[in-house]
Amino acid sequence: MSQSVDDPLLDHNYDGIQEFDNPLPGWWKMLFWGTIVFCIPYTYWYHFGPGLSIQEKFEADMKANTIVLNLSDDAETILALRDDPEKLALVSSKFASLCAACHQPSGAGLPNLGPNLTDKHWKNVQKLTDITRVLRDGVPGTAMVSMASTLNKDERILMAAYVASLSKNYVEGQPPEGEEILVWPVEKTADTPQEE
Ligand code: HEC
Repeated sequence: MSQSVDDPLLDHNYDGIQEFDNPLPGWWKMLFWGTIVFCIPYTYWYHFGPGLSIQEKFEADMKANTIVLNLSDDAETILALRDDPEKLALVSSKFASLCAACHQPSGAGLPNLGPNLTDKHWKNVQKLTDITRVLRDGVPGTAMVSMASTLNKDERILMAAYVASLSKNYVEGQPPEGEEILVWPVEKTADTPQEE
């Protein structure tokens, strides 16, 4: 076995096996000790201190992103919210992430995907609370699925108001479908059965 000048042998010899003296580079050792030093405050901060775990951070973010206003699901509430830009702003990002894929960010709709929500024609809706019903139950047999697991009750009411607000500014897109509603009927409460 040949040996270079820079490869000094250690002076032990075990059953004829000898070992070169090749220490690890300084930067490697620094990194190794660095990880050990780093883990002490890290462990303290995240396990005993105020640092949030990924699960806790997720739960805090979910809570911050959940709207709770205790709104009532009636036409008057939805109509009032429709004209309240501050409240509508709470759900505009949810419309962009949950609805725009089929209805477009403007609400103008997409061929074979989603109807135009900016016109005054409605297929499944006769009164404002029908929009919250569509959001809760979806339109069975179509791509419009129930949003009940994605949006809570307050969020569905706000979203219904957001949808109703879209028809204030018509955007050319999908052709009108269904019956035209020029003025929303404002029934006293949503769940009062209508007289026959
Ligand atoms: C996967 C595609 C898709 C997504 C996502 C989607 N929709 Fe729809 N939506 C549809 C389709 C298709 C219809 C038409 C159903 C029918 O044929 O009656 C519809 C119908 C509707 C209607 C009833 C329109 C009418 O004229 O009766 C409303 C209101 C509505 N969607 C709102 C929303 C909102 C708000 C969201 C987001 C929370 C959303 N949709 C997400 C596809 C979608």
